[in-house]
Amino acid sequence: METVAFFDARSYDRTYFDAPAAAHGLEMRYLESKLTPDTAVLANGCKAVCAFVNDDLGARTLSALAGYGVRAAALRCAGFNNIDLVAAEQNGIRVFRVPAYSPASVAEHALALLLTLTRMTHRAFTRTRERNFSLEGLVGINLEGRTAGIIGTGKVGMKLAGMCKGLGMHVLASDPKPTWGAGLEYVRPEELIRRSDVISLHCPLTPETYHMISRQTFHSMRPGVIIINTSRGALIDSEALLDNVKSGVVGAAGLDVYEEEADVFYEDVSSKVMRDDTLNLLLSQPNVLVTGHQAFLTREALSAIAQTTCENLRSFFDGSPSPNELRPREAETV
Ligand code: NAI
Repeated sequence: METVAFFDARSYDRTYFDAPAAAHGLEMRYLESKLTPDTAVLANGCKAVCAFVNDDLGARTLSALAGYGVRAAALRCAGFNNIDLVAAEQNGIRVFRVPAYSPASVAEHALALLLTLTRMTHRAFTRTRERNFSLEGLVGINLEGRTAGIIGTGKVGMKLAGMCKGLGMHVLASDPKPTWGAGLEYVRPEELIRRSDVISLHCPLTPETYHMISRQTFHSMRPGVIIINTSRGALIDSEALLDNVKSGVVGAAGLDVYEEEADVFYEDVSSKVMRDDTLNLLLSQPNVLVTGHQAFLTREALSAIAQTTCENLRSFFDGSPSPNELRPREAETV
Protein backbone atom coordinates (compact mmCIF):
# COMPACT_ATOMS: atom_id res chain seq x y z
CA MET A 1 0.00 0.00 0.00
CA GLU A 2 1.58 3.33 -1.10
CA THR A 3 0.67 6.55 0.69
CA VAL A 4 -0.26 9.64 -1.31
CA ALA A 5 -0.47 13.15 0.21
CA PHE A 6 -3.86 14.40 -0.98
CA PHE A 7 -3.95 18.21 -0.74
CA ASP A 8 -7.01 20.47 -0.57
CA ALA A 9 -9.25 17.49 0.28
CA ARG A 10 -13.01 17.99 0.61
CA SER A 11 -15.68 15.61 1.86
CA TYR A 12 -16.76 14.76 -1.70
CA ASP A 13 -13.16 13.84 -2.57
CA ARG A 14 -13.14 11.20 0.17
CA THR A 15 -16.52 9.89 -0.95
CA TYR A 16 -15.33 9.33 -4.49
CA PHE A 17 -11.66 8.42 -3.92
CA ASP A 18 -11.84 5.90 -1.05
CA ALA A 19 -12.98 2.90 -3.10
CA PRO A 20 -10.80 3.33 -6.22
CA ALA A 21 -7.79 4.19 -4.04
CA ALA A 22 -8.17 0.94 -2.07
CA ALA A 23 -8.69 -1.00 -5.30
CA HIS A 24 -5.40 0.41 -6.65
CA GLY A 25 -3.43 -0.28 -3.45
CA LEU A 26 -3.21 3.39 -2.47
CA GLU A 27 -3.69 5.01 0.91
CA MET A 28 -4.74 8.65 0.67
CA ARG A 29 -3.44 11.00 3.36
CA TYR A 30 -6.30 13.52 3.10
CA LEU A 31 -5.10 17.03 3.97
CA GLU A 32 -7.33 20.08 4.13
CA SER A 33 -4.44 22.44 3.39
CA LYS A 34 -3.74 23.73 -0.06
CA LEU A 35 -0.36 22.79 -1.46
CA THR A 36 2.09 25.70 -1.16
CA PRO A 37 5.85 25.94 -0.53
CA ASP A 38 5.02 26.08 3.20
CA THR A 39 2.67 23.10 3.31
CA ALA A 40 4.83 20.86 1.10
CA VAL A 41 6.27 19.42 4.33
CA LEU A 42 2.95 17.60 4.89
CA ALA A 43 3.95 15.28 2.04
CA ASN A 44 7.02 14.12 3.96
CA GLY A 45 7.28 10.35 3.62
CA CYS A 46 5.05 10.17 0.54
CA LYS A 47 6.43 9.50 -2.93
CA ALA A 48 3.40 11.11 -4.58
CA VAL A 49 1.04 14.02 -4.05
CA CYS A 50 -2.45 14.54 -5.41
CA ALA A 51 -3.32 18.18 -6.15
CA PHE A 52 -6.18 20.31 -7.48
CA VAL A 53 -6.69 23.48 -9.50
CA ASN A 54 -5.72 26.08 -6.92
CA ASP A 55 -2.78 24.23 -5.41
CA ASP A 56 0.50 25.99 -6.04
CA LEU A 57 2.85 23.72 -7.97
CA GLY A 58 5.35 26.39 -8.84
CA ALA A 59 9.13 25.96 -8.78
CA ARG A 60 9.48 26.62 -5.02
CA THR A 61 6.83 24.07 -4.05
CA LEU A 62 8.24 21.46 -6.42
CA SER A 63 11.75 21.91 -5.09
CA ALA A 64 10.43 21.57 -1.52
CA LEU A 65 8.43 18.46 -2.44
CA ALA A 66 11.48 16.90 -4.09
CA GLY A 67 13.41 17.55 -0.88
CA TYR A 68 10.83 15.49 1.04
CA GLY A 69 11.18 12.62 -1.41
CA VAL A 70 8.14 13.27 -3.63
CA ARG A 71 8.59 11.88 -7.15
CA ALA A 72 5.11 12.29 -8.65
CA ALA A 73 2.30 14.85 -8.75
CA ALA A 74 -1.12 13.60 -9.83
CA LEU A 75 -3.42 16.47 -10.76
CA ARG A 76 -7.06 15.55 -10.27
CA CYS A 77 -8.14 18.00 -12.97
CA ALA A 78 -7.72 18.66 -16.68
CA GLY A 79 -6.11 22.13 -16.64
CA PHE A 80 -2.45 22.30 -15.66
CA ASN A 81 -1.68 26.02 -15.67
CA ASN A 82 -0.85 25.82 -11.94
CA ILE A 83 2.20 23.59 -12.39
CA ASP A 84 5.66 24.53 -13.64
CA LEU A 85 6.36 21.51 -15.84
CA VAL A 86 9.96 22.50 -16.47
CA ALA A 87 10.65 22.78 -12.72
CA ALA A 88 8.91 19.45 -12.17
CA GLU A 89 11.22 17.77 -14.65
CA GLN A 90 14.27 19.46 -13.16
CA ASN A 91 13.24 18.21 -9.70
CA GLY A 92 12.63 14.66 -10.91
CA ILE A 93 8.86 14.85 -10.34
CA ARG A 94 6.61 13.14 -12.88
CA VAL A 95 3.28 14.86 -13.53
CA PHE A 96 -0.06 13.30 -14.43
CA ARG A 97 -3.48 14.79 -15.06
CA VAL A 98 -7.02 13.72 -15.97
CA PRO A 99 -7.35 15.02 -19.53
CA ALA A 100 -11.02 14.12 -19.93
CA TYR A 101 -13.49 13.05 -17.29
CA SER A 102 -16.83 14.50 -18.19
CA PRO A 103 -16.85 17.30 -20.74
CA ALA A 104 -20.64 17.24 -20.43
CA SER A 105 -20.46 18.29 -16.76
CA VAL A 106 -18.57 21.49 -17.66
CA ALA A 107 -20.60 22.23 -20.79
CA GLU A 108 -23.90 21.69 -18.95
CA HIS A 109 -22.74 24.10 -16.23
CA ALA A 110 -21.88 26.71 -18.86
CA LEU A 111 -25.37 26.25 -20.30
CA ALA A 112 -26.90 26.48 -16.81
CA LEU A 113 -25.15 29.83 -16.26
CA LEU A 114 -26.33 31.05 -19.65
CA LEU A 115 -29.97 30.05 -19.22
CA THR A 116 -30.07 31.38 -15.66
CA LEU A 117 -28.85 34.75 -16.86
CA THR A 118 -31.13 34.98 -19.90
CA ARG A 119 -34.26 34.04 -17.90
CA MET A 120 -33.12 35.48 -14.52
CA THR A 121 -34.15 32.41 -12.55
CA HIS A 122 -31.50 33.33 -9.94
CA ARG A 123 -33.45 36.51 -9.23
CA ALA A 124 -36.85 34.80 -9.37
CA PHE A 125 -35.62 32.24 -6.83
CA THR A 126 -34.83 34.84 -4.19
CA ARG A 127 -38.01 36.81 -4.93
CA THR A 128 -40.52 33.99 -4.68
CA ARG A 129 -38.98 32.79 -1.40
CA GLU A 130 -40.04 36.18 -0.04
CA ARG A 131 -43.52 35.67 -1.57
CA ASN A 132 -42.70 38.36 -4.12
CA PHE A 133 -44.30 37.21 -7.36
CA SER A 134 -43.85 40.47 -9.26
CA LEU A 135 -42.39 40.08 -12.76
CA GLU A 136 -40.98 43.61 -12.90
CA GLY A 137 -37.36 43.50 -14.04
CA LEU A 138 -37.45 39.85 -15.08
CA VAL A 139 -37.87 40.29 -18.84
CA GLY A 140 -35.48 37.83 -20.47
CA ILE A 141 -34.34 37.05 -24.00
CA ASN A 142 -34.73 34.02 -26.28
CA LEU A 143 -31.51 32.25 -27.24
CA GLU A 144 -33.08 30.74 -30.35
CA GLY A 145 -31.88 32.62 -33.41
CA ARG A 146 -29.00 34.30 -31.59
CA THR A 147 -25.31 33.70 -32.21
CA ALA A 148 -23.05 31.81 -29.79
CA GLY A 149 -19.29 32.22 -30.12
CA ILE A 150 -17.33 29.30 -28.72
CA ILE A 151 -13.65 30.02 -28.13
CA GLY A 152 -11.86 26.67 -27.96
CA THR A 153 -13.61 23.71 -29.55
CA GLY A 154 -11.97 20.87 -27.65
CA LYS A 155 -13.97 18.40 -25.60
CA VAL A 156 -16.01 20.91 -23.58
CA GLY A 157 -16.42 23.56 -26.28
CA MET A 158 -17.65 20.98 -28.76
CA LYS A 159 -20.28 19.71 -26.28
CA LEU A 160 -21.54 23.23 -25.65
CA ALA A 161 -21.62 23.94 -29.38
CA GLY A 162 -23.97 20.96 -29.80
CA MET A 163 -26.18 22.19 -26.96
CA CYS A 164 -26.36 25.68 -28.45
CA LYS A 165 -27.34 24.21 -31.82
CA GLY A 166 -30.07 22.26 -30.03
CA LEU A 167 -31.42 25.57 -28.78
CA GLY A 168 -31.58 26.85 -32.35
CA MET A 169 -28.56 29.16 -32.03
CA HIS A 170 -26.12 29.90 -34.80
CA VAL A 171 -22.67 28.76 -33.62
CA LEU A 172 -19.39 30.49 -34.46
CA ALA A 173 -16.14 28.92 -33.34
CA SER A 174 -12.52 29.90 -32.99
CA ASP A 175 -9.65 27.49 -32.33
CA PRO A 176 -6.10 27.33 -33.70
CA LYS A 177 -6.77 23.62 -34.28
CA PRO A 178 -10.29 23.54 -35.78
CA THR A 179 -12.32 20.35 -35.92
CA TRP A 180 -13.38 20.48 -39.56
CA GLY A 181 -16.51 18.61 -40.51
CA ALA A 182 -18.24 19.24 -37.18
CA GLY A 183 -20.66 21.67 -38.80
CA LEU A 184 -19.27 24.75 -37.05
CA GLU A 185 -18.49 28.04 -38.72
CA TYR A 186 -14.87 28.72 -37.83
CA VAL A 187 -13.90 32.37 -37.93
CA ARG A 188 -10.98 34.46 -36.70
CA PRO A 189 -11.23 35.45 -33.02
CA GLU A 190 -11.85 39.12 -33.88
CA GLU A 191 -14.82 38.18 -36.08
CA LEU A 192 -16.25 35.88 -33.41
CA ILE A 193 -16.00 38.66 -30.82
CA ARG A 194 -17.71 41.11 -33.19
CA ARG A 195 -20.60 38.85 -34.26
CA SER A 196 -21.52 36.89 -31.12
CA ASP A 197 -24.44 37.55 -28.77
CA VAL A 198 -22.96 35.02 -26.35
CA ILE A 199 -19.23 34.37 -25.95
CA SER A 200 -18.19 31.26 -24.04
CA LEU A 201 -14.55 30.46 -23.25
CA HIS A 202 -13.28 26.88 -23.48
CA CYS A 203 -9.56 27.16 -24.16
CA PRO A 204 -6.74 26.54 -21.69
CA LEU A 205 -4.91 29.28 -19.82
CA THR A 206 -1.44 29.70 -21.30
CA PRO A 207 0.87 32.73 -21.62
CA GLU A 208 -0.74 33.31 -25.05
CA THR A 209 -4.35 33.17 -23.80
CA TYR A 210 -3.81 35.22 -20.59
CA HIS A 211 -6.31 38.15 -20.74
CA MET A 212 -7.46 37.12 -24.23
CA ILE A 213 -10.59 39.08 -23.30
CA SER A 214 -8.81 42.37 -22.59
CA ARG A 215 -10.03 45.94 -22.17
CA GLN A 216 -9.45 46.39 -25.90
CA THR A 217 -11.50 43.29 -26.81
CA PHE A 218 -14.66 44.68 -25.19
CA HIS A 219 -14.61 47.65 -27.63
CA SER A 220 -15.61 45.42 -30.55
CA MET A 221 -18.28 43.36 -28.76
CA ARG A 222 -21.98 43.61 -29.47
CA PRO A 223 -23.77 45.80 -26.92
CA GLY A 224 -25.45 43.53 -24.38
CA VAL A 225 -23.14 40.56 -25.09
CA ILE A 226 -23.27 37.71 -22.59
CA ILE A 227 -19.90 36.36 -21.43
CA ILE A 228 -19.59 32.85 -20.00
CA ASN A 229 -16.32 31.60 -18.53
CA THR A 230 -16.01 28.07 -17.15
CA SER A 231 -12.40 27.71 -18.24
CA ARG A 232 -9.84 29.71 -16.28
CA GLY A 233 -10.34 33.13 -14.68
CA ALA A 234 -7.25 34.82 -16.08
CA LEU A 235 -8.54 34.45 -19.64
CA ILE A 236 -10.49 37.64 -18.84
CA ASP A 237 -9.20 40.95 -17.52
CA SER A 238 -11.64 41.09 -14.58
CA GLU A 239 -11.36 44.82 -13.97
CA ALA A 240 -12.15 45.50 -17.63
CA LEU A 241 -15.09 43.09 -17.39
CA LEU A 242 -16.44 44.94 -14.37
CA ASP A 243 -16.14 48.31 -16.14
CA ASN A 244 -17.98 46.92 -19.15
CA VAL A 245 -20.73 45.43 -16.98
CA LYS A 246 -21.11 48.84 -15.38
CA SER A 247 -21.24 50.64 -18.73
CA GLY A 248 -23.77 48.16 -20.14
CA VAL A 249 -21.55 46.82 -22.94
CA VAL A 250 -21.76 43.44 -21.22
CA GLY A 251 -25.40 42.46 -20.74
CA ALA A 252 -24.60 39.58 -18.39
CA ALA A 253 -21.67 37.50 -17.23
CA GLY A 254 -21.63 33.95 -15.90
CA LEU A 255 -18.34 33.12 -14.23
CA ASP A 256 -17.39 29.78 -12.76
CA VAL A 257 -13.77 30.91 -12.54
CA TYR A 258 -12.12 34.15 -11.53
CA GLU A 259 -8.54 35.24 -11.95
CA GLU A 260 -7.92 35.82 -8.24
CA GLU A 261 -10.03 32.85 -7.12
CA ALA A 262 -7.28 30.91 -5.35
CA ASP A 263 -7.73 32.62 -1.96
CA VAL A 264 -11.51 32.47 -1.80
CA PHE A 265 -13.00 29.75 -3.99
CA TYR A 266 -13.67 26.41 -2.28
CA GLU A 267 -13.78 28.22 1.09
CA ASP A 268 -16.61 29.61 3.19
CA VAL A 269 -15.48 33.22 3.63
CA SER A 270 -18.98 34.52 4.40
CA SER A 271 -17.97 35.79 7.84
CA LYS A 272 -14.79 37.48 6.64
CA VAL A 273 -14.15 40.87 5.08
CA MET A 274 -13.38 40.38 1.42
CA ARG A 275 -10.69 42.70 0.20
CA ASP A 276 -10.99 42.00 -3.50
CA ASP A 277 -13.11 44.95 -4.64
CA THR A 278 -13.36 43.76 -8.22
CA LEU A 279 -14.94 40.51 -7.06
CA ASN A 280 -17.09 42.37 -4.52
CA LEU A 281 -18.45 44.65 -7.22
CA LEU A 282 -18.98 41.84 -9.73
CA LEU A 283 -20.91 39.89 -7.08
CA SER A 284 -23.10 42.89 -6.35
CA GLN A 285 -24.41 43.19 -9.93
CA PRO A 286 -27.78 41.58 -10.69
CA ASN A 287 -26.61 40.44 -14.12
CA VAL A 288 -23.42 38.74 -12.93
CA LEU A 289 -23.62 35.17 -11.71
CA VAL A 290 -20.57 33.69 -10.02
CA THR A 291 -20.20 30.04 -9.08
CA GLY A 292 -17.17 28.81 -7.16
CA HIS A 293 -15.41 26.66 -9.79
CA GLN A 294 -18.02 23.94 -9.61
CA ALA A 295 -18.52 23.10 -13.28
CA PHE A 296 -16.71 19.78 -12.76
CA LEU A 297 -18.82 18.87 -9.73
CA THR A 298 -21.13 16.09 -10.83
CA ARG A 299 -21.26 12.50 -9.59
CA GLU A 300 -20.23 11.25 -13.00
CA ALA A 301 -17.24 13.59 -13.22
CA LEU A 302 -16.05 12.92 -9.66
CA SER A 303 -16.16 9.14 -10.25
CA ALA A 304 -14.21 9.46 -13.48
CA ILE A 305 -11.66 11.84 -11.91
CA ALA A 306 -11.05 9.47 -8.99
CA GLN A 307 -10.74 6.42 -11.22
CA THR A 308 -8.26 8.01 -13.66
CA THR A 309 -6.21 9.68 -10.90
CA CYS A 310 -5.80 6.34 -9.12
CA GLU A 311 -4.84 4.65 -12.39
CA ASN A 312 -2.27 7.41 -13.02
CA LEU A 313 -0.78 6.93 -9.55
CA ARG A 314 -0.73 3.15 -9.93
CA SER A 315 1.14 3.39 -13.23
CA PHE A 316 3.67 5.71 -11.57
CA PHE A 317 4.27 3.29 -8.66
CA ASP A 318 4.48 0.33 -11.08
CA GLY A 319 6.87 2.22 -13.36
CA SER A 320 4.57 1.71 -16.35
CA PRO A 321 3.91 4.38 -19.00
CA SER A 322 0.76 6.48 -18.79
CA PRO A 323 -0.95 8.37 -21.62
CA ASN A 324 -1.86 11.00 -19.03
CA GLU A 325 1.69 12.01 -18.15
CA LEU A 326 2.54 15.66 -18.84
CA ARG A 327 5.92 16.79 -20.09
CA PRO A 328 7.20 20.37 -20.48
CA ARG A 329 6.47 20.43 -24.21
CA GLU A 330 2.73 19.85 -23.50
CA ALA A 331 2.47 23.43 -22.30
CA GLU A 332 3.46 24.61 -25.78
CA THR A 333 1.12 22.31 -27.71
CA VAL A 334 -2.24 22.98 -26.06
P1 NAI B 1 -9.38 20.56 -24.54
O1 NAI B 1 -7.90 20.45 -24.42
O2 NAI B 1 -10.15 19.37 -25.04
O3 NAI B 1 -9.76 21.78 -25.51
C1 NAI B 1 -9.15 23.03 -25.44
C2 NAI B 1 -9.21 23.63 -26.84
O4 NAI B 1 -8.77 24.96 -26.77
C3 NAI B 1 -8.34 22.91 -27.87
O5 NAI B 1 -9.11 22.56 -29.00
C4 NAI B 1 -7.29 23.95 -28.22
O6 NAI B 1 -6.83 23.86 -29.58
C5 NAI B 1 -8.07 25.22 -27.97
N1 NAI B 1 -7.24 26.43 -27.85
C6 NAI B 1 -5.97 26.56 -27.41
N2 NAI B 1 -5.59 27.85 -27.51
C7 NAI B 1 -6.64 28.54 -28.02
C8 NAI B 1 -6.86 29.89 -28.37
N3 NAI B 1 -5.90 30.82 -28.22
N4 NAI B 1 -8.06 30.24 -28.89
C9 NAI B 1 -9.03 29.32 -29.08
N5 NAI B 1 -8.88 28.02 -28.77
C10 NAI B 1 -7.70 27.63 -28.25
O7 NAI B 1 -9.90 21.02 -23.12
P2 NAI B 1 -11.36 20.81 -22.49
O8 NAI B 1 -11.40 19.49 -21.84
O9 NAI B 1 -12.36 21.13 -23.53
O10 NAI B 1 -11.36 21.91 -21.34
C11 NAI B 1 -11.34 23.29 -21.68
C12 NAI B 1 -10.90 24.07 -20.47
O11 NAI B 1 -11.93 23.95 -19.46
C13 NAI B 1 -9.65 23.53 -19.77
O12 NAI B 1 -8.50 24.15 -20.30
C14 NAI B 1 -9.85 23.91 -18.33
O13 NAI B 1 -9.15 25.09 -18.07
C15 NAI B 1 -11.33 24.16 -18.20
N6 NAI B 1 -12.00 23.29 -17.25
C16 NAI B 1 -12.75 23.86 -16.25
C17 NAI B 1 -13.43 23.09 -15.34
C18 NAI B 1 -14.28 23.69 -14.27
O14 NAI B 1 -14.69 23.01 -13.32
N7 NAI B 1 -14.62 24.97 -14.35
C19 NAI B 1 -13.34 21.63 -15.39
C20 NAI B 1 -12.57 21.12 -16.51
C21 NAI B 1 -11.92 21.93 -17.40
